[in-house]
Amino acid sequence: MGDVPRGRANAFVVHLSFMETPNTPLYIRAALGEQTERPPIWVMRQAGRYLPEYREVRKQHSFLDMLNHPEVATEVTLQPIRRYGMDAAILFCDILVTAQVLGSKLDFVEKKGPVIANPIRSAADVANCQAAPVNEFLPYVFDAIKLIQKELRPKGVPLIGFAGAPFTVASYMIEGGSSKDLARSKGLIKESPEVMDALLDKLVAVTIDYLNAQIEAGVDALQLFDTWTNHLDLESFKRYSLDPIKRIIAGLNRPANVPITVFCKNMGVFAPLLVDCGANALSVDWGVSLRGVRDQIGSSIALQGNLDPQMLYTEDKVLEKAVISLLDSMKDQPGYIFNLGHGMSPDMEPEKLKLVVDLVHGYKR
Ligand code: CP3
Repeated sequence: MGDVPRGRANAFVVHLSFMETPNTPLYIRAALGEQTERPPIWVMRQAGRYLPEYREVRKQHSFLDMLNHPEVATEVTLQPIRRYGMDAAILFCDILVTAQVLGSKLDFVEKKGPVIANPIRSAADVANCQAAPVNEFLPYVFDAIKLIQKELRPKGVPLIGFAGAPFTVASYMIEGGSSKDLARSKGLIKESPEVMDALLDKLVAVTIDYLNAQIEAGVDALQLFDTWTNHLDLESFKRYSLDPIKRIIAGLNRPANVPITVFCKNMGVFAPLLVDCGANALSVDWGVSLRGVRDQIGSSIALQGNLDPQMLYTEDKVLEKAVISLLDSMKDQPGYIFNLGHGMSPDMEPEKLKLVVDLVHGYKR
């Protein structure tokens, strides 16, 4: 590159993207719908308390403190890449930062999880939610992305950015924390659907800004998490989950080679509705046969999933059988990314995940 004028060299670097290189990562190719030599693998909650090296870092910081320190977020993002050679990294952050942007006073309490001190209970509460500018409010997220990419780019490992989908984030804002039944959220939908719509509208706008800023900071892919859609009936799903997701995806300034994946629970029912939501891939929970979903909705969209996380508590032989039968069921399918049907839990053994990753890495189509 010695004789290339400086300006041009810089422009070249800026536009050099995964699709234009001969070494486009497997994960990106599969998410864009390609048939890959073997399926790529990463797993939800791959950075977390099940890893001793995570617990070591966590001793020194609260969870929110970890997110606030880009060098700490970088270290834990990279831990599962170092240990397992995962085919993608996911940014270490949380879905509830978009609730914070809208004014939720969030804390994470030991053995309890997220707690929001000022839950949304009325139209006036929603009207009071004023979005802070994401770049000023969450600068540490974008700083972390840049730091992580310094490490990952040379290794050719793509970085997945993410956000919570509006319905799931709204449910935490309304419930004031985790809830097993989302009673208040469902009550609000019944009593004042327009209040729920107004809250979701605000979350849609914040999420678009947040994900666009992640793309600008350098993520290679995106995922939206709508974890609690299993509490919604079909009509509520369309209005409170699907519609906001579609509006977010339509609002992104996203190069064609930055795929976006949508994770929902109860995909067995909702996948046919999500096929044309604008996403490149659907992340399928463990409650349905992945091949069954593929046969039902066709191959216009990539699929990610869906090993039952409970298999990580079984004997190696049983786990191996579960992994291989999932791989075999998707063997001839384009656009397939191996993942769990939901996330890793703190009491899972790291060696079990190693077995899964090694099986996927060694799999020949
Ligand atoms: O490795 C990764 O997946 C990246 C980071 C990540 C976290 N949370 C870190 C985290 C991601 C992508 C999430 C998403 C998230 N957060 C979801 C959607 C995905 C899902 O699991 O359904 C949801 C619903 C949340 C909300 C949340 N964050 C809860 C309910 C809790 C408490 C329960 C728990 O697991 O502790 C968290 C905390 C949290 N988020 C931890 C981590 C590593 C544990 C923090 C700790 O105490 O060390």
